[in-house]
Amino acid sequence: MANTILIGSQWGDEGKGKIIDVITTEHQWVVRYQGGNNAGHTVEIGDQKFVLHLLPSGMLREGCSCVIGNGVVIDPAALQKEIEEVEAQGIVTKGRLYVSDRAHMILPYHRLIDAYREGRATDKDKIGTTKRGIGPTYADKASRVGLRMGDMLDAAFPEMLAHRIQENNRILSSLGAPTVDEEECVDQILGLAKALSPYIADTVTLLNQADRRGESILFEGAQGVMLDIDYGTYPFVTSSNATAGGACTGSGIAPHRIERVIGVIKGYTTRVGEGPFPTELHDEAGEGLRKAGNEFGATTGRPRRCGWFDAVVARYAAMINGIDFWALTKLDVLDHQPVIKMCVAYEFEGRRYESVPASIRILEQCQPIYEEMPGWMSPTTEISRLEDMPIEARHYIARLEELTGVRAGIISVGPKRHSTFVIEDVYKPSL
Ligand code: IMP
Repeated sequence: MANTILIGSQWGDEGKGKIIDVITTEHQWVVRYQGGNNAGHTVEIGDQKFVLHLLPSGMLREGCSCVIGNGVVIDPAALQKEIEEVEAQGIVTKGRLYVSDRAHMILPYHRLIDAYREGRATDKDKIGTTKRGIGPTYADKASRVGLRMGDMLDAAFPEMLAHRIQENNRILSSLGAPTVDEEECVDQILGLAKALSPYIADTVTLLNQADRRGESILFEGAQGVMLDIDYGTYPFVTSSNATAGGACTGSGIAPHRIERVIGVIKGYTTRVGEGPFPTELHDEAGEGLRKAGNEFGATTGRPRRCGWFDAVVARYAAMINGIDFWALTKLDVLDHQPVIKMCVAYEFEGRRYESVPASIRILEQCQPIYEEMPGWMSPTTEISRLEDMPIEARHYIARLEELTGVRAGIISVGPKRHSTFVIEDVYKPSL
């Protein structure tokens, strides 16, 4: 057994795709277990750049099998488009990609409901969703009125689909929102069902059989701990469990089959969409991070909010997920910061907070307590050993480890595959 869960430890966009791409060499399987095409992983291989939303990053490694697990919500049109795109870039998907028959489908009415809610929300209520229909699809799943990918293979699927469209059109009309053209939608989804049916499988059995044969599985988290529906900054969260526990419920692999949990964490913090963000910067330093880190959403192109590293969030992530070591990314983005700050705790109404409070009202008003450190002011992108990093950067990493109680096992200093190195005494390969 050498199964690994890799999760985002902040608000998503930590550079998970890149780290997954590097460590897939140790795994025969890569599994997406939650979220949907709200995610966006950018991976650069040589001169080619891939942006994946639904497909597991393992698709980019020959010989690696990939699963979109039962915990994921799938927009069939988006999946088909992505399959076509990667195939055009030379990636084979047939016989390598398996889509869970239990995964719920995002249908056009889910997107309309998502867009409608976001459109009519006041500034205070707006979540800033990706408008991909994620929340309404998970809501239907919990309400037991969803359609699953396996339903596409059922002879009664056209009627099931028509029935769901009619009911949702009634809801949409009563809200005064645009409705779905039933005939057009049924035709479109039936066409997609035909194209996607070769990929639909009982992935729960498939994965457990692979595990029993001794093949190792990498669980690829989407979004991040602070966007988790239970542990994040509710209601400014996504609608799934982006934390490590989600890997088991979202794939059908038992908890005791997991060997290690890797937390991907950026050397600073970003957030897309609305909601509290204690270390957010509204000044030149924030703008500098956005530019140097190219912090614009891979899915929506929105500029990301940027701020200093928040050790309160990192400690919380380590605790909830049992993180064995950090994959610390985008450290090079700090190369030109003369002074770097790190948030060690929060303060609100004279009280010191060492962990993230559940109350949004409190979190919104929390003031970060910072430690300041000198920056290293030199390029790190070509460095491939910790010993060669500038002394200030090593101090920064050491302080981050001390404050979070977790060592860094992987360091990434640039977007290319080769700009990543491991810390030998922390990182244990899984094979
Ligand atoms: P939803 O997942 O589209 O419902 O959006 C809910 C919140 O999660 C919004 O703040 C989004 O910006 C955020 N979000 C969803 N997916 C990602 C992601 O992959 N990276 C960063 N933020 C995300």
